[in-house]
Amino acid sequence: MSKLKDSRRDFIKGIGILGAGAAVGCISINKEEKEKNITRMSTRPKGAQYMGDFSAPSLETVRCAFIGVGSRGSGHASQFAQIDGVEIVAICDLYEDLAIKSRNECKEKGAGRHQNIALYHGDQNLWKKMLKEVRPDAVFIATPWGLHAPMLITAMEEGAHAFAEVPIATTIEDMYKIVDVSEKTQKHCMMMENVNYGREELLYLNMCRQGVIGDLLHGEAAYIHDLRYHMEEQERGAGSWRTYHNANRNGNLYPTHGLGPVAQYMNLARTEDNFSRLVSFSSPAIGRKKYASKYYGKDHKWNKLDFKGGDINTSIIKTNLGRTIMVQWDETSPRPYSRLNLIQGTKGTLAGFPTRVALLEDIKRVTNDHHGWLDEEQLQVIYEKYEHPLYKRLGTLASAMGGHGGKDFIMRYRIIECLRNGTPLDQNLYEGCFWSAVAPLTETSVAQNGMPQEFPDFTRGDWKKTKPLKIIS
Ligand SMILES: NC(=O)c1ccc[n+]([C@@H]2O[C@H](COP(=O)([O-])OP(=O)(O)OC[C@H]3O[C@@H](n4cnc5c(N)ncnc54)[C@H](O)[C@@H]3O)[C@@H](O)[C@H]2O)c1
Repeated sequence: MSKLKDSRRDFIKGIGILGAGAAVGCISINKEEKEKNITRMSTRPKGAQYMGDFSAPSLETVRCAFIGVGSRGSGHASQFAQIDGVEIVAICDLYEDLAIKSRNECKEKGAGRHQNIALYHGDQNLWKKMLKEVRPDAVFIATPWGLHAPMLITAMEEGAHAFAEVPIATTIEDMYKIVDVSEKTQKHCMMMENVNYGREELLYLNMCRQGVIGDLLHGEAAYIHDLRYHMEEQERGAGSWRTYHNANRNGNLYPTHGLGPVAQYMNLARTEDNFSRLVSFSSPAIGRKKYASKYYGKDHKWNKLDFKGGDINTSIIKTNLGRTIMVQWDETSPRPYSRLNLIQGTKGTLAGFPTRVALLEDIKRVTNDHHGWLDEEQLQVIYEKYEHPLYKRLGTLASAMGGHGGKDFIMRYRIIECLRNGTPLDQNLYEGCFWSAVAPLTETSVAQNGMPQEFPDFTRGDWKKTKPLKIIS
């Protein structure tokens, strides 16, 4: 066999380990299979309805259940417990102590409102029993990534609106299954991207909507956060399962915190424009291996892993209108935290870490030089003029409640407000899928040495009908 054939065979074997979902859209799957996938994915199943601007009948009280009350889910439960119109009805976790702790926090924080919280713990399938027995209105899922899809799907099938932590799922195939079930059951399914509710992100959204930076051309989004310390969690907690993703997958595994806000600035998947394709490259994988060998013994389980995921991944997304977004991910390098949060238009640039604004046009006689970033005093003028109305309404309360600077509270508050008012959620089903799809698409691109990957259209062409997210007051 020629060298070329050999390398192609190895390459196909390599794709195989990524799993069926990751290989969707990949040139190596056979033609028949590919056509079958395309037909299935481009056709909405019978009886299913598009969910772009979906609103559900209003609920006076939202009966909430939680699956996974570890580091993230416990924060969800205890804050939802303090929001008017919420009744906490059930909590499920693998571990009894976590379930009990979370129930006690809900009771305490809810000032006596949540007296009948059913607890489920001790078995990995008890969440199914919980859904059947308790029949909650809304289920909040904060479990390891691979469990989001089956839990979301079953929750909707059991009649609940379903909310999951980021990412919504890890494979394109699971994202399509989620879409099909949400469309069929007419239940909300939202990936809870809290970063879209940050003060700076809301400010920039408002400025983009008001045309302050002109036509949008380019964005930069990232999740740069040294999380190697997670490896200390070896039996329980994020490190005990995330470390295997770091070892076995190579791409951008956590794109949504940076990308969610930029996608909404650009109105992607809502009327104007949509994700088209991406290319992706990873750096060598060095940091995790070095970290494991420095801090753990030779026979430790972390030293038996072959860390394949490059320390830093860099991708470029091209939209239908030809706009670009650079997306980066690095949870391994010794670097200060950043999500970049940059949006550039024909009349100016807004950026994060730290908050920076440069504008071509003069606003209130303070912003007359776009070659430099505005200073602190000038930024105050921008905040006064463009602070998002939602932040004006909830910012003080959110800061007092805490949770990533208040953005967690604003997100949770809005979810309940929308369910109680019967209005569309701020992030729809498809946005969660498009933003999350970056992970499997980058994995395929990296495996193919940077070959472009087309985004699947989870809306089956209907994104053009979905209104842009309005400036909610
Ligand atoms: N949006 C944010 O700012 C943010 C921050 C941290 C984590 N997260 C996301 O939250 C999710 C959870 O991460 P984490 O850091 O809390 O992890 P974690 O390991 O601390 O918590 C996960 C919990 O799920 C439970 N669990 C696992 N399998 C279960 C099952 N079959 N049934 C019931 N419970 C089960 C575990 O016992 C654990 O308590 C992830 O998707 C992560 O990406 C988001």
